[in-house]
This record gives sequence, C-alpha cells and structure tokens, in this order.
Amino acid sequence: MYYPDELVEEVRARSDIVDVISSYVKLQKKGSTYFGLCPFHNEKTPSFSVTPGKQMYYCFGCGAGGNVITFLMEYENYTFREAMEVLAERAGVELPKGEESAEARRQADLRARILAVNKEAGRYFYYQLMGANGGRALEYLRGRGLSEETIRHFGLGYSNMYSDDLYRYLRKKGFADDLLKESGLVKFEERGAHDRFWNRVMFPIMDVNGKIIGFGGRVMGEGEPKYLNSPETRVFDKSRNLYGLNFARTARKPYILLCEGYMDVISMHQAGFTHAVASLGTAFTSGHANLLRRYTEQAVLTYDSDGAGVKAALRAIPILKEAGISAKVLSLKPYKDPDEFVKALGPEALEERIAQAKNSFLFETDVLYGQYDMNDPEQKTAFHNALAEKLLQFTERLERENYMEAAARQYLIDYESLKGLVNAMGGRAGLSSGARKTVRRDEKRERPDGIRQSQKILLTWMVEDARVYPAVKGILSPEDFTEDLFRRVAGMVYEGLEAGKISPADVLNHFINDEDEYKEVASLFNTSLSELTKEEQERAFSETVKRVKRHSLEERIRNVTDVSLLQKLMKEQAGINGLHISLN
Ligand code: UTP
Ligand code: MN
Repeated sequence: MYYPDELVEEVRARSDIVDVISSYVKLQKKGSTYFGLCPFHNEKTPSFSVTPGKQMYYCFGCGAGGNVITFLMEYENYTFREAMEVLAERAGVELPKGEESAEARRQADLRARILAVNKEAGRYFYYQLMGANGGRALEYLRGRGLSEETIRHFGLGYSNMYSDDLYRYLRKKGFADDLLKESGLVKFEERGAHDRFWNRVMFPIMDVNGKIIGFGGRVMGEGEPKYLNSPETRVFDKSRNLYGLNFARTARKPYILLCEGYMDVISMHQAGFTHAVASLGTAFTSGHANLLRRYTEQAVLTYDSDGAGVKAALRAIPILKEAGISAKVLSLKPYKDPDEFVKALGPEALEERIAQAKNSFLFETDVLYGQYDMNDPEQKTAFHNALAEKLLQFTERLERENYMEAAARQYLIDYESLKGLVNAMGGRAGLSSGARKTVRRDEKRERPDGIRQSQKILLTWMVEDARVYPAVKGILSPEDFTEDLFRRVAGMVYEGLEAGKISPADVLNHFINDEDEYKEVASLFNTSLSELTKEEQERAFSETVKRVKRHSLEERIRNVTDVSLLQKLMKEQAGINGLHISLN
C-alpha cells in the first residue's frame, strides 16, 4: 500500500515526537531539548536527545537518529507501514484501505479468519492445560523446568484426549467447516472431522507480530512423531517465520541466538536469553535469513552438538552470509542442546560460551581438519591445500591475511608457507588480477566520496545555521549538487528555506522507503558545525562552497556540446578562486 507524501506528513505532524518517545524513554528537559538514556545502545549518562523544534531525535553516543516514524521502525522493528498504522491510529488519522482487487481482499479476509481460528484454538489449548484435563501435561512441562510464567508467556497448551474436541468447540464458536479445514487444525475424512492434535503439549507458533500462525504439538514422553506441526496454510509459511522472533525482535542485543528447537528457545528465554529464535522444524532457509536481517547483522548458532547439529550449522553459515549476517558458532559440549546446557550450568556459563563462540570460517575449517589424518603426510598436505583454497574466498587482501594468520596459529602451520601456498593457488585462479581490479575501483570511488562529503556538509549547515543559505544561494543552486540524492534533498531544503521554514523531519519522510538513503539524509540533520571556531567555520565554509561549485562546473563542462555555453562555464570556473564567500 502506497501512502501519498501528504498523508505521511499529516500522520507525522500529528504525532508529537516527545509524546511518542516518552512512552519508551524517560526524557528530561534541558533548554529546548529533551535528553534521556539511549534505547539503541547501552549507556549510563544520557546522550539521546529529542528536539521538539525539529521533531527529530539523535543520539550523540551511537549516531541513531530520525523522526517519529523511524523511531518506531527502529525501536519496535516495525516496517514503515506498521509504524504508519500505529501512529495514525494514535493520532486519529484514517488511512485509506486501498483499492485492492476483489480477489486480494478475499485472500486477506481468509487470512484474517484463519488467524482468528488459531487464536481461539490457542486459548482453548491453554485453558485445557490449566483446567481439569491438563494435569499430566502441566506436570510434563513443569518437569522440564518451565515456570508458570514461561508457560503463559509462550501460551503453551494441551490438546486433550478426545479426537474431535477442538472441532466441536470451534464449531460452537461459529467457525465453518471450510475455514477449519483451511486452518489445518481439523482433518475431514469419510468417518467425520478429527482434530489434528491429540493428547499433545501444544506450542503456538507466532509471527513477528505475535499472531498465532500455526502450532507444534509434542508427545509427552516417548513417541512418534515427537513433534507434530500444523501444515502450511495461508498464514503459515515455515520458511519465512522463526519461533521466538516476536519476542527476540525487541530484545535489543547486537546479535541473535539461532537454535534448533522450540524447547531450546523457551528455556533460553526463561534463562534471560530473550534474543533466541529457532526455525520451525525445517532447515534454515534464505527466507529465514532475510527475515533475520531486518533485525540483526550477527547470529550466534547454538545448534545441537551432535553430528546433525554440526551439519545444520555448516548449511546455515553460507545462507546467513549471503543475506549479510555474519555468523559465529557456539559449542555446547558436553551437553546436547541449549536446553540441557542452561539447565545444567546456568546462564552465566552460557554467556561465557557465547563470548567464546567461534568465527564461522574457523568453525568450517575445524570441521575440515577433523576429516584428515594429520599423522599421514599425504593427508596433511591435502588438508593444507583444502585450507588454502578456502582462504581464497576472501578477496580483500588484509582480510585474507588476517584469516591466514588465524588459521596458521590454529593448525600450527608456518605462516609464510601457508601464505605462499595461498598466493600460488590464487595466482593460478587469477586472483591477483581480480585483486588489482578491486583496488583500482576503490581509487576511483575515492574522489566522488570527497565531493559527496562536501555536498553533504553544506546541506547540513544550511539547515543548522541561518547565515548559510543567504550566503550560498547566489552561488549554488540545487542543480550544483551533483549527487543525485543530495540534489533531491537540496531541492527540498532550498524550497523550504525560501518559504522561510524548513522541517527536517518532513524532508526525511521523502526517503523513508529506502533504508540507505534514509540513513544518509538523517545524518545530514544530525551533524553539527558548532564545534568549530568562528575562523575555522569561515574557512571550512568557503572551501566547501568552492569545491561543490568547482565539481559541478567540471561535470557540466565535460558534458556540454554548445561552444558558447562552454566558454561561459570556463569563465565561471576561472572565477571561483577569487570568490569571496563569508558568513555574516
Ligand atoms: P529436537 O528433536 O531437537 O527437539 O528437534 P527439541 O526442540 O529439542 O525438543 P525436546 O527438547 O526434545 O522436547 C528440533 C526441532 O525440530 C522440529 C521441532 O521444531 C523441534 O523443536 N521437529 C523435531 C519436528 O518438527 N518434528 C519432530 O518429530 C522432531
Ligand atoms: Mn533438541
């Protein structure tokens, strides 16, 4: 659903940033600014500021910054849409329902109705667990060390002994057969309707928003299958949901713990590791990785310590990497899984293991190492070759060298010899020419980067300091900002300043759908000139204006075809050095 700019702006303008943030962070007023402890990093003295005048927040400690919409996006991990919905509701602004096709509406409606069935079923299972029939199941869960609070937190339940008990209950609640069939909770056979889950401890599976999308049911004790899960339905896609993510997404840790099972997640959360998630009885997929990437850049794999767990970790590492998540692998030995580990050794010991978690590359090479007999020279050599080949995946020289160093240390190989081997192999594979290419590309990027900085800082100053715009506007127009992004921002900033008012929060709204652009524009409004002395300011200012102008002229001269225009531009170019630019 696309929201027009005016609507986004209306929602933003009617949501006072101090009000909204105050419900999450304790703010104290100092002058015209509010300060509090930053919710985005750990700190003891407040460096998180909220400026009502600009309707922006900024943390001097970690650089987090933005407007009221992005605050919710960052804090609650909402998408843009979700943040808009929450704020609109709060501010009493009606959002358009959109012109979806009749079919799309029908599907959305079906999804909503399945979710309603699941919610009702979740409640039923919970009451069964807590009621007269639930004794044995409750005993089982308690026996596994779960507290009442944990049981409630995860909404665990019990599906009792009767084979159509839930069916009859849901029918009584008014849900029709078709819908119950779609929900996967009831199976219809010739002999009649049967509940899918039957005499099992129930684990509701929630999506990131806490909606029940399916269930897992475990036998109490031994039995096959150990877990029975809801089938895939309109709302349940196993490859795009992670168990525990609804809680983990607001855990505010720089990494998440990725484990294998429902029980692992639950006992980790109970032990205080609320940033643990698990895939739903399926292998880890790129769908999972992309979902995670919305919340974190780092994963610590806490898979079972058996062979299957190692295999699963080896499979997950490249998938995580591909999605931009770096992985570490934790050893739980001598325990089987996180559940057993925390129960036996407690949270501090797990915290220690997390700190010692192995870099995913070294984990992979460890597994490799285990496959060779180091007492046999031929196998030892084969290991060295395999290792060298693996090291070639690092195309950055420094990074490669760091890994060569670590590997040499770990496997007691002479560093120079390993390096020689890697380079010889790389030479054969054409790595050196590839490496040269990367360097050259970087050099080319270097210069535009400088000019980007100049354009960026100038825009910042324009917003920050009332003296800047009058001094600049005769010399530079928005078109002189050669970077596409900054030209667009400049257009808005010039327009705003001409009209005598500029709202950084509003400018920011235009970039909200692209995270990278958004961050860059947000940072425009967060840097401050005021640390420089007056003299430094003057010099920096005039140098920057000249640089931006010079670059813009160079670009135009390069592309111009008309001779008289070329002469005019060159004359302007010659005049730049003599320009007197000052702040009054
Ligand atoms: P585990 O067998 O490790 O289960 O399977 P667990 O979560 O540790 O449970 P406990 O401690 O033995 O009770 C890991 C995950 O694989 C899926 C479930 O999601 C489970 O949590 N699984 C396992 C199934 O879907 N079906 C099965 O029969 C077994
Ligand atoms: Mn397990």
